Order: sequence, then C-alpha cells, then structure tokens
Amino acid sequence: MKEKIENAQPLQVRTNSVVLMRRIMKNYVAPHMGKVLLATFFMIVSSALTAGFAMMMEPVIDEVLTQGNISRVWLLGSAIFFIFVMRGITTYQHTIIMTNLGQNIVGQIQRDLVSTFLTLDLAFFQQNPSGQLISRVINDVNVMRASVSDGITGFGKNLLTLFFLVSVMFYQDWFLSCLVFLIFPFTAIFVVWVGRRLRKMSGRIQEDMARLSDMLSQIFQGIRLVKAYGMEDHERERTGYAIHKVRELVIKSVRVNNLSTPVNETLVGLVVFAIIVYGGYSVADGGSTAGELLSFITAFSMSYEPMKKLAKLNASLQMGLGAADRVFHMMDRRPEIKEIVAPTRANYTKPDIMFEKVEYKYDANERMALDGVSFTMFGGTVTALVGPSGSGKTTIMNMIPRFFDPSVGRILIDKDDIRTLSLSSLRQQIALVSQDITIFDDTVWANVGYGKHGAYQDEIIKAAIAAEADDFIRRLPQGYDTRLGEEGLKLSGGQRQRIAIARAILRNAPILLLDEATSALDNEAERAIQATLAELQKGRTTLVIAHRLSTVQNADQILVLEEGRIVERGRHEDLLAKAGVYARIYGAGLR
Ligand SMILES: Nc1ncnc2c1ncn2[C@@H]1O[C@H](COP(=O)(O)OP(=O)(O)OP(=O)(O)O)[C@@H](O)[C@H]1O
Ligand SMILES: [Mg+2]
Repeated sequence: MKEKIENAQPLQVRTNSVVLMRRIMKNYVAPHMGKVLLATFFMIVSSALTAGFAMMMEPVIDEVLTQGNISRVWLLGSAIFFIFVMRGITTYQHTIIMTNLGQNIVGQIQRDLVSTFLTLDLAFFQQNPSGQLISRVINDVNVMRASVSDGITGFGKNLLTLFFLVSVMFYQDWFLSCLVFLIFPFTAIFVVWVGRRLRKMSGRIQEDMARLSDMLSQIFQGIRLVKAYGMEDHERERTGYAIHKVRELVIKSVRVNNLSTPVNETLVGLVVFAIIVYGGYSVADGGSTAGELLSFITAFSMSYEPMKKLAKLNASLQMGLGAADRVFHMMDRRPEIKEIVAPTRANYTKPDIMFEKVEYKYDANERMALDGVSFTMFGGTVTALVGPSGSGKTTIMNMIPRFFDPSVGRILIDKDDIRTLSLSSLRQQIALVSQDITIFDDTVWANVGYGKHGAYQDEIIKAAIAAEADDFIRRLPQGYDTRLGEEGLKLSGGQRQRIAIARAILRNAPILLLDEATSALDNEAERAIQATLAELQKGRTTLVIAHRLSTVQNADQILVLEEGRIVERGRHEDLLAKAGVYARIYGAGLR
C-alpha cells in the first residue's frame, strides 16, 4: 500500500494551480481569443434559451389551458419550436468551435513538447524511458485538452444555465426557491465526497493502465525471448493479473460514481414532493397560478443537469492540472550541452582529432567512465578502439559529436576546441554508423537519404552502389520505393548494415565514427562489408570500435582501453609482440 502511494506521487499537482492555469491561458488560449469569444456568445444564447423554455411554460398553461385563450396557442407553440431550433444551432456551433479550439491547443502543446524533446541531450533520453515520453505527449496532453475545453466552456455554460434557471425559479416563486435550496446543500456535500474518491481512483487506474501497457510493449518487443524461453504462460499470467486489477478498479469506480444516483434521486424526490405539496396549496389558495408552478417545476428539473456537470468538472480540472504539471515540467527542461555565444562554423577536410586528458563520469555511477584519456588521430587515418565490455569505448566515441562533454580535459579538431564550434556544424562533420542500426519505417530512398538533407535520387543510388546495397535494394518488391517495415524487419543484419553504410557514404563527412556490429557475419558478407568500409574510410578521419580481426589489422593506430584508461597503443604487430593486454584480447578472438 505504501508503495502505491509513492508511485502515485508524480500524478499529483505540485505547482500552484493558479500558476498552471495562467500559463495555459496565456500561452495556449489567449492566441485564440476570437474563437473563445464567439463560443462564449453561442454559449450565452443557448443558456438563455434553456431558461426561456422554462419561462414559456407559464403563458402556455395560464393563457391557453386555464383561460382558454386558444388563439394564442399558435404563437406560443411556434415560439417554443423556435427556441428549440435555436438552442440546437447555438449548442452545435459552440461545441464545434470549442472542439476546434481544444484540438488547436493539443496540437500546439504537442509540437512544443516534441520540439523541446528534440533539443535535449542524449543523457535525458537515457534517463527517461521512451514509453514515458510518449505518454507525456499523447496521454497527458489529451487529459489537458479535455479539462481545458471542459473547463472553459463547461464551467461557463453550466454555471450560466444554472444561473438563468435559478432566476426563473426565484421569479416564479421566491419562497419555494428558498425551500428547495435548503435541501440542495446535502446533495452538494455528497457529490463532493464522491468526486474526491473518484479522483483518487482515477489516478490509480491511470497508473495501473500505464503499467499494463509497459508490460505489453515489453512482451511484444521481446517476443523472441518469450517464445525461446517458453515464457508464454508466465506472461499470460502476469498480464492477466494486471488486466484483472484494472477491471476491478474500473468496476469499483463506476460503483462509487453511480452511488450518487440513488442518493440524489431520493433528495430530488423529496424536493419534488415539497414543491407539489406546497405549490398545490399555493395554487389552490390562489397565491400563484398553475402556469407559474409548472414553469417553476420545469426550471427546477432542468437545473439538475448543469448542477451535476459542474460537480464533475472539478475532478476533470484536477486531473488536467496534474497532467499540465507533468507536461510543463518536461517542457521546461533545457539541454546542458550548449553552444558558446559566437560559435565558429566547422568545416574540415581530413582533420586531426585530439583528446587531451579527458575525464568523464556518468551521474549514476561512482566510478569514472574515462580517466585521463589522451590520444591523437591524424587526418585521414583509422584509429581502432579495443577493450573489454564497459571499458569506455562507446563513451569516447560519444564525446566527438558532443553527446556528452568531458568533465575535465578537452577535445580538439584541427586545434579548435569542439565546444567553440556550432553544434550543427560540428555534427555535420560526422558520419555515424552505430552498432544497433536504426531503419526508419519509410522507403529506401528516405532511409538512405537520411544521411543528407534534400539528396537527389542519383546521389542516393550512387551511395547505395558504393555500399554494395544497390543489388539487393533492386531485388526488393518495389526497389527503392519499398517501405522498410517497423524497425526494418524485412532486412537481414547484413543488409541493414549496408543501408547504414550507404547513409554514411551519402553524408560524405570528413569524420567517420564506426561502431562495429558484434554479431558474426558469414565470411562472404564479412568480406563484402570490409570492402565497402575501406571505401568509406578513404580520405576521412575514422574512429572505429573494433570487433573484427581485419579492422584491427588494418588500423593505423590501436588504442587498448581498460577501465577508462588507455593501457596500450600502437599498431597490431607491435602490440602483439608486446604480449600484453592486447595480445590477450586478440588471442581470445577480440569479441
Ligand atoms: N548512460 C549511462 N549511464 C551510466 N553509466 C553508463 C552509461 N553508459 C555507460 N555507462 C558506464 O560507463 C562505463 C563505460 O561504458 P561504455 O558504454 O563506454 O563501455 P564500452 O567499452 O562501450 O562497452 P561495450 O563493449 O560493452 O559496449 C561502464 O561502466 C558503463 O556501465
Ligand atoms: Mg559500447
């Protein structure tokens, strides 16, 4: 139970509600003020018409039915018909305008959120699981939309309708009105109690649903593992339990929610009882007319709906504010890796790259990931990084595009500290082929073309030919127009690698960062890739995390890492002759 409460924490509003509301109003609602005003106009008209109908009951009864003034029936009937038509039209207009506004707001918040995410550092994405970020952009923003449009219109509309109807009631019989409002506070107390319980429950339902969807996405992503280890029954049970929990909670919340029905109906029955008894006597005494009484009853029964809706609004508003808090919290994140005020535009050919006493420590870890790393890569040469798992190879590579900045020390490209360069121009100098290749759910054109903005088709084909990918691409069902499925499921490991290499060739950048795949390719594929890689490395300064024999044998310089330090460096033959760490790793087959 304690764990539950702690888990529920992030769902609660921590920022002041007024601050949150002012921010939503100022940034997202104010730009659409014209729409808000128009919707308000329709809302006022529709509320007034509702009360107008209740008012009309009086002349209908008194003039037509009691006094028998039958000629008036056409006029009154038509007026009531007109009221209903106009109420339909204004309510429709109001709903459409508000939906439009709500969707505009959602779109704007989602765009702002995604823009913020795209500026953030790699570290941010390593700390926040993608499922959570997606939930911020989709679920939370939708909860916000619901409560913003409910809040602006629902609140105003229902309050106004209620005001008009209550006015009608007081106009018709102030004493009876006072009597009715003596009973209503009891309903209000009950509604508030139900609302509070529901809010708590809906928070828990959201949480359990999030957990269930996390579970499902993990299972589907890891379906190979699930099947290979025969864990289907285990997963069925786990998800079955989670589904069961969500179901129980939903049923419980519906039960609580509808508890208000019998209680409210009883109270309303009591009020109607009072109206009929008191009103009946009053009409009999001649204190009021039958028309006035019916008009009163109509107004009263119609005021029930807006009152119920107002009660529900608070819960929706609270949930919306909770979501807004989470959304703004993310939107306010700023990247830590920034440019200096007047950065230099990088533009190099065969640059030298130099690490000077670079140290790095991940926030989460005690131990230094890099500890005094110094080396130089000369322009146009190949440097290979080798070392046991966790020795810091990927960390070194991530520092060149400034995915992380050194805690101590600096990195120079042709004598320029990389922190003085504009980020985009620095990254423009780099082609990256990573271990886990990303294939986008798009055509081959787009996937290879990712390497260069606005690449021409013949450039893409040329790059594919150089990467020896052209042959297999042409054999795909629609050639270059083939959509590669989600995560490129339609391609083999080697094919994916060749797409990635084509991408890098197309980028034609002076610096090449290569994280070799650890999966063993067959001899023929290995030879083919080797040839294309040699082609790719020509004329560029290359840093490669090496798992292949051929890579280390051909490297101009090998850096051997151990626990964040360079323990040996040199060419393959020299290092072997040394019979040290490298010889040991090499003897074990590198990987
Ligand atoms: N995002 C991170 N947060 C915290 N610690 C990290 C992170 N990434 C790496 N580390 C730690 O930093 C150290 C170096 O990791 P790095 O990824 O550079 O190793 P590696 O040599 O690339 O290993 P491998 O061969 O397994 O890819 C390891 O101890 C690792 O646990
Ligand atoms: Mg690594």
